[in-house]
Amino acid sequence: VTGPDLPPQIRQRTVAKAHTLIEALPFMREHRGKVIVIKYGGAAMDSAPLARPFAEDIALLVHAGISPVIVHGGGPQVTRVSQQLGIETTFVDGLRVTDAQTLDVATMVLAGTLNTAIVASLVTHDVSAVGLSGVDGGLLMARRQSAPDLGFVGEVVHVRGDILRTLADRGFVPVVASIAMDEFGQAYNVNADVVASELAAALGAEKLVYINDVPGLMGTGGELISELSSAQCLDLLAQPGVVEGGMIPKLESAVAALKAGIARVHLVDGRVEHALVLELFTPEGVGTMITPDADEELAP
Ligand SMILES: Nc1ncnc2c1ncn2[C@@H]1O[C@H](COP(=O)(O)OP(=O)(O)OP(=O)(O)O)[C@@H](O)[C@H]1O
Ligand SMILES: [Mg+2]
Repeated sequence: VTGPDLPPQIRQRTVAKAHTLIEALPFMREHRGKVIVIKYGGAAMDSAPLARPFAEDIALLVHAGISPVIVHGGGPQVTRVSQQLGIETTFVDGLRVTDAQTLDVATMVLAGTLNTAIVASLVTHDVSAVGLSGVDGGLLMARRQSAPDLGFVGEVVHVRGDILRTLADRGFVPVVASIAMDEFGQAYNVNADVVASELAAALGAEKLVYINDVPGLMGTGGELISELSSAQCLDLLAQPGVVEGGMIPKLESAVAALKAGIARVHLVDGRVEHALVLELFTPEGVGTMITPDADEELAP
């Protein structure tokens, strides 16, 4: 058909590439002009070779007219530095018990080292990333979480979405570290999944994507669940031994985001190169998709 001098196998390969691009077109149309909140998990970030494909994916999103807002975790990294300093780490239902020392470590690691590394990697790939924590501009106002009391673990009471919208409207990509503050200036550690969900709700995001280090949500028999509803998430959370550790706040915040009107929450495997682009621009989803309950979907 084309290029009569090309050997047939090359012709096939080239045409297949074009098909892939054309196949992405309806997805690009769908997401253009929308905000997508992406939670970059600490476990996925631990794999250095994946920082590059992640940055490339974000660059592609930006060029496709999407406004990505990134929230990052850093659980394993906070635990490592705590260990180096001789500070003990305890989790309750996937949330880090945060005494004053642990709060210092979390602030140093999340708002310092990790935030800087992610922003640097994105800027290297021509993404105008801007790093901020929930303290900047009062982005994330929180109060001490009371039940259970985990020390300086905060629950979000207010989000200043205008800060992120202003950045996004000017073509900047906000990269948020999950440290919040209260009205007295006290800092709090907030689970990054919760922050991502709160930001998605405040921005009216189209989607919330959690990038993790597992294939997705695993069910009772350890099988990958490729799609489930909000109500089914709550059922799984109620069953003992199925959803554990960091997956507890992740599912709870997914349910909260859907309730707030986010149409889709995705859990994707950050160990798969270009997982984000595959999830957003191809028909084959790579992980778990969580959908609203029928009555939520009807809500305005
Ligand atoms: N049913 C389940 N399906 C999948 N993962 C599960 C399940 N139950 C528990 N997990 C664990 O939850 C972990 C994900 O939560 P975790 O908080 O560790 O990662 P993250 O949120 O990506 O990182 P960070 O908290 O640093 O941002 C998985 O690595 C897995 O070990
Ligand atoms: Mg987590």
